[in-house]
Formats: sequence, structure tokens, C-alpha cells
Amino acid sequence: MNTVKAEAAEASSANAQLVAGLDTATSGELFEAACRLIPGGVNSTARATWSGWTPYPLFVKDGKGSHLTDVDGNQYIDYLLGLGPMLLGHRPPRVTQAVVDFIQNRGTIFALPTADEARLAQKIVDAIPGVDQVRLCNTGTEAVMYATRLARAFTGRNRIIRFEGMYHGFSDAIYWSKHPALDKAGPDAHPVPVPQGPGLPKGVEENLIILPWNDADLLAETLEREGNDIAAVLTEPVMCNTGCILPRPGYLEAMRELTARHGVVLIFDEVITGFRLGLAGAQGRLGIKPDLSVFAKGIGGGFPVAALGGRADIMALVARGKVSMAGTYSANGIAIAAANAALDELAAPGVFERLDAVSDALRLGLDKILKDAGLPAYVVGLGPLMQVWFAKGPIHNYRDAERHADQDTFRRWWEGMLGEGVLFHPGAYENLFVSTAHTHADVTATLDAAKRVAAELARTA
Ligand SMILES: Cc1ncc(COP(=O)(O)O)c(C=O)c1O
Repeated sequence: MNTVKAEAAEASSANAQLVAGLDTATSGELFEAACRLIPGGVNSTARATWSGWTPYPLFVKDGKGSHLTDVDGNQYIDYLLGLGPMLLGHRPPRVTQAVVDFIQNRGTIFALPTADEARLAQKIVDAIPGVDQVRLCNTGTEAVMYATRLARAFTGRNRIIRFEGMYHGFSDAIYWSKHPALDKAGPDAHPVPVPQGPGLPKGVEENLIILPWNDADLLAETLEREGNDIAAVLTEPVMCNTGCILPRPGYLEAMRELTARHGVVLIFDEVITGFRLGLAGAQGRLGIKPDLSVFAKGIGGGFPVAALGGRADIMALVARGKVSMAGTYSANGIAIAAANAALDELAAPGVFERLDAVSDALRLGLDKILKDAGLPAYVVGLGPLMQVWFAKGPIHNYRDAERHADQDTFRRWWEGMLGEGVLFHPGAYENLFVSTAHTHADVTATLDAAKRVAAELARTA
């Protein structure tokens, strides 16, 4: 059987029910048809069967505010939120209108600047402590690529420290050791780079040093030993790609101090945290100023926009044309109109206070329900970003998660919640996202569902 047929067969032979008691048959049929034309039936890994969407992903009819409806007419409270970009909920009216107005009245792409770009840049510079200047692009992957290129050009050094369990996009030079199998990943204190599958060019990993996150001593040792060849430390300020893991107290401060001491560029990948943990991002909330920062999912109100910003003396390399950042679609009219409107929404008084209040109610409520049910589980998060860990002990890095997280129970939790009309990603290493459109009523409904699911998990444990 060729692969295409095998995929289709996998879909059709699969139990038509994604979750017991939930009619998702149309999603199953559409997936089967899609697999004949689209490898794996989807257009991004996170939507694929092997990322947890077995036997098939839900197919969407539409989204509105905090809710999503699938093609079978099931409605969900949506904490997937497009994996982050729908921070203002689905179809946020002002963002949608701004995009429609721009397209209808002005155009799309000109290969020439518009005044709107500088207006957006001003908002980003005003909001983010570590950003003196900013360049716009379309995806987090691109922005990270630019950031590492810039760090190498600025320092004249080659190697980048990145951390196991983090995701910084899918470019060849960085798509290593996201979630490596531990038997291939080397000793705990000296991880070796593991490619995220075949096809990455051999040799690029020599430019990477892989470290476990949340270990300041190991970082200090590494910088002491090899600092002269290290261009950048690339990190998420909160680890959002192995569930949600918070930095240990003092860790980011140590990272800041050590990188400064060794002349290493500190890059915060705020693709998820930026404009989500507050208008000033994680760096504002946690009080650490990196040298370069990368933003994406928080900026565009659901449209593809990303940004790389940072210290004026580093960004000057771009100004002088020494470091090239190209892109036909960079700062296109749709992206800029969306981002200008989205950042205005986020800058309105009280937005983050309300978002945090709703999110805290969810995080604390879930945590209590799981504990009250006697389950070895807890919720980790900050503001509108969180994940449930089914684990007996604390998780501080990727290897802790691999060793201690109970993926089977997470799966049953996910199935139970989906059956109750609460949507989030089936992967334990993803997150629940809360939007400004979520209400306390959404949280109450979610917690009621969680009580029933937790009781069932406890009963069948
Ligand atoms: C922290 C982080 N960096 C970079 C990326 C890549 O962004 P994009 O999917 O826009 O290329 C992601 C995507 O999930 C991310 O979570």
C-alpha cells in the first residue's frame, strides 16, 4: 500500500469517534479526503495525528470570541486559540474591520513602506523594555532566524546556546532537540543535539550548544568554558513548548548577568509570551531586559505578523545594511493593519487586569479541582498561559517532564474535557490559552466540566 493510501486507510479504519459520546464523524470524513491530497491531512505538525490528534483532528466550521464550532456542529469553549494567536478571541471586531478597511481602501503589498509601519513600530518600542528598534516579518520562525543571524554578526562568534524542550521554529539551524528521545539525547548535564527528524543538514548542529533549562550553574560553567565562541543564549522566558514551566527564582536574572559578563547576546523568544503576559511581555512582567526579543503570536490579533527588536547598537547592523533581512511579505498591509488594531485593543486600560483575573480563576480553579479529586496533578502557568501536569513531583525542565509526566492520564483528561465541550490541544506539552474574549462564565462552565472529568479520572485511576 502506498503512503497516501495508507494515510486514508488509517483515517477510515479509525474509530469514527474522536472521543466517546461526541459525534465528530464529519471531521473523520474530511480528514480521510484530505489525506489523499495533503500529506498527513493537515498543514502543520501540531495538527497532525502524531501530535495527538488521533484518529483525526477536528475540522472547524468557525470561531467567535471564546468559542469554536466544528463541522459537526459541536461547540467548544476554546483554549486552543489557534495555538496562541487568537489572544483577542476569534474574529475580534476592531481587528477584522481594520483589515477589511485596509484591503478595500488601500491595497495589500506595495514593496514600499507605509506610515502605518512606523506607527506600529512605535507601539512596540513603547511597550517593550528591551526594544529600541524593531523589524517586522511574518512568522516566529523567521524572526528567530533573523535574531540568531544578527547575534552572530554582532559578536563575530558562531555558537548559540539553546535549551532542550524549547521550540524556536523549524529552520534548519535551530530545529534541534525540541523533544528528543532521552536515549539519544546524551547525559543530563551534557545533552547532544538531536535533529527534529531527517533532512536537517549535517554539521549545522556544531553551531549549537544544547543545555537543560533552569540550571544556572550549568549555564555559568558553559559560558566560562566556551563563552568566547558563543554568540547568543536563545530562550523562552517561560518555557511554553514543554507544557508550561516557569523559570526558577533567580534563573533569568543569572542568565542576564552571565550573558552580559561574557559578551553574549541574550535573545528572548517571546513568540508566545509577548503581548500576552502583559503589554510589556514576559520581560516586563519578570523584570529582565534581553538584548534581542522575538514576537509573533501576541501581535497580530490572529493574522501572521512577527517582529524582531532589540538594542539600538545591535539593530544598527540592519540599519547599515550589513545584516540582511528580506521578505516580500514582511510588513504587508494586512499584517500591519491587524497589528496596529490589536495592539490598540491590548493597550486599552484594564485589559490585562481582566485577562489575568479570568485566567487566574481558571488556573487556580483547575488546580483545586484536580487536587480535591485526589489526583497527582497540578497546574502551572502565568496569566493567560497554563498547562495541567499529571505528575507526582515538580517539573523544571524537559527531562523532568519526560521522566515524570503521565501522558496517558493527560490523554484521558483531554478526551474527557473535549467530550464536555472544552477544547485545548491533546498534547501534554502544549498549553491552554485564555483570550480577552473569555468570560468568568466560560471559566465556571470549564470548571464544572473539570469536576466531572476529574471525578471520573479518580474513579478509574
Ligand atoms: C516559542 C516559539 N518560538 C517560535 C515559534 C515559531 O513560530 P511560527 O510558528 O510563527 O513560525 C513558536 C511556534 O509555536 C514558538 O512557540
